[in-house]
Amino acid sequence: MYDFQPETGLDTAERYRQLVDAADALTADEPDAVANMANVAALIREFVPDLNWAGFYRVGEAKSGGRELVLGPFVGRPACIRIPIGAGVCGVAAQSGETQLVEDVHAFPGHIACDAASRSELVVPVVREGEVIAVIDLDSPSPARFSPADAEGLEQLAALLSNRI
Ligand code: SME
Repeated sequence: MYDFQPETGLDTAERYRQLVDAADALTADEPDAVANMANVAALIREFVPDLNWAGFYRVGEAKSGGRELVLGPFVGRPACIRIPIGAGVCGVAAQSGETQLVEDVHAFPGHIACDAASRSELVVPVVREGEVIAVIDLDSPSPARFSPADAEGLEQLAALLSNRI
């Protein structure tokens, strides 16, 4: 049995440090990308409070050719399966290679509402050898839930996963 849980009273940076350590321990010896993403999505739910959705979209093949984001392992309600690169918060993160911290999803042009409860969102690209291979998406029911410390912590998790998903 795995029992990864954050200690109580941690600040955001330390909370993410412990999340990254737990993710490192769980994925270090496992070559299967889906298994690693599934466990990391579950870990995010343990370590990051006030979320209604957390998971992965991977850059994959579009049905009509070309590339698009395809839903990966997550925790939360069933979600949009395919997102064009450049569309919505996830697609913009994938296209730009830059973290998207959105305080109010209703004010983000083209935001894709997968869960009507979502009010704010944080999306971080996972980059391997200079190419975006996936994004990690966190949604919260609270407006302006995410801080730069959340973005920095999630970027460290994305860096760890670069060769593990
Ligand atoms: N809101 C995202 C879509 C994914 S869901 O939130 C799970 C977006 O605008 O890209």
